[in-house]
Amino acid sequence: MSAVATNPQTEGAETVLVVDFGAQYAQLIARRVREAKVYSEIVSPAITAEEIAARNPTGIILSGGPASVHVEDAVLIDPEVYDLGVPILGICYGAQMIAQQRGGLVDHSGRGEYGRTTMSLDADGGCLLGGTPATQQVWMSHFDAIVEPPKGVTATASTSAAAVAAFEDRDQKLYGVQFHPEVMHTTHGQHVFERFLIDACGSSGSWTMDSIIDTAVAQIRQQVGDESAICGLSGGVDSAVAAALVHKAIGDQLTCVFVDTGLMRLNEGDQVVETFERSFGVRLVHAQAQDRFFEALEGITEPEAKRKAIGELFIRVFEGAQAQAGEARFLVQGTLYPDVIESGGKHASTIKSHHNVGGLPDDIEFSLVEPLRSLFKDEVRQVGRELGLPDEIVERQPFPGPGLGVRIIGEVTPGKVATLQQADFIVREELRNAGLERLIWQSFAVLPDIRTVGVMGDERTYGHPVIIRAVTSEDAMTADWARIPHEVLEAMSGRIINEVPGVNRVAYDITSKPPGTIEWE
Ligand code: XMP
Repeated sequence: MSAVATNPQTEGAETVLVVDFGAQYAQLIARRVREAKVYSEIVSPAITAEEIAARNPTGIILSGGPASVHVEDAVLIDPEVYDLGVPILGICYGAQMIAQQRGGLVDHSGRGEYGRTTMSLDADGGCLLGGTPATQQVWMSHFDAIVEPPKGVTATASTSAAAVAAFEDRDQKLYGVQFHPEVMHTTHGQHVFERFLIDACGSSGSWTMDSIIDTAVAQIRQQVGDESAICGLSGGVDSAVAAALVHKAIGDQLTCVFVDTGLMRLNEGDQVVETFERSFGVRLVHAQAQDRFFEALEGITEPEAKRKAIGELFIRVFEGAQAQAGEARFLVQGTLYPDVIESGGKHASTIKSHHNVGGLPDDIEFSLVEPLRSLFKDEVRQVGRELGLPDEIVERQPFPGPGLGVRIIGEVTPGKVATLQQADFIVREELRNAGLERLIWQSFAVLPDIRTVGVMGDERTYGHPVIIRAVTSEDAMTADWARIPHEVLEAMSGRIINEVPGVNRVAYDITSKPPGTIEWE
């Protein structure tokens, strides 16, 4: 996370800065602010008051954090931030910090409060809480407690263990809440954000999907000018939305390259072509390389060898397609805001190779166009919908670069791919029919390299089993196997055996990550 990185995509927008003191909640705070239609960015606590002033924010939010303001090396905000005249909201640790730095008192000897807590308003609850019920549920997670609000600031709410559960002073533009308004268990949390943003900061709440798209289009036009850009389409959400946005901005100056490996989900390749070439009229180089991939995979059974073969051929095919697309100086990428936060906000303006999308040639140099750099995944999906992309693309689950190649154990053949595509389609369709698709991170079928005896009618069969894999996850780093209702599993199993030739048994994978991985190879 950079203290000062500005985002060209949002320059000029009203911005609220969320200073991240290390709680897992900072991203959630930034998203809640955006839900109130105010643009927000996360910045490091190392940011100075001068750097903040240079960003001209409409408000500042100091997040919670795991530390105590009483420890010797407590990370605190530059105290000159209080002289900027910008409204400040402290949340949990952030509120304690304001109290500590502005003449209040934070006590380290109490018993703390964790989880759902009942809070009572003092008087009318002030700007942040006015209009909400006199007693209400909030989510607490703190050991230290503010016992005296900052000098000249009034307490506006309390709980049994927190004498000062909220405080504010309009003149000093200081606001604090001990509870976590960003968490859904805080019943009136979004109200607190809206009052802070609109009443205290005077934000207009005009950061809408339309304004995001208009700003991005203007920025892309300015950046690319009359040069050409290329974009590798993977079939995934991010590259699809990035391509649609850039196409809206520069039309035929964009060429999309789609490498069809033959290892995608059922109908996915057709859908990419249908959507981009036929509906959107995008210039598309469609490299139909299925046969080349099957040839390259002949006789290969070892997972890493398969990945390598697929990755290397992908690069070669991409290079060929790129040559067909003509000279381009710009490469479009679907980098998202969480990637930017994770990489510390470092912005490489040019790139030599790109390893996220299955690898691109190492020896080409592009300037990057990253129109989604300031957006969270759910915002990207909204932009995609707004641009007219179909739900099948916008709601698509993550899919590995090597595709079905790592879901077929043993040698990959066209026949096995056809079997797996049909089984995989049924798994996802039944989940969608049950209304569960959006609750699941990834759901798919795996084809192991074994055979199994069964009986169908009066006949003995010797066919293939299919394994269903479905996981819930936040970020793919850890995952839990999804507790899919038995009736849904039954529908999947029945349909796979009846509709997919050669399959006579279905199993469900109940392994979490760790110790398993999401994929089988
Ligand atoms: P694992 O199987 O390691 O997967 O738990 C974690 C996430 O990464 C995806 N995945 C890949 N994505 N290229 C990709 O672009 C790959 O080689 C690859 N392998 C796994 C996987 O689908 C899951 O979302």
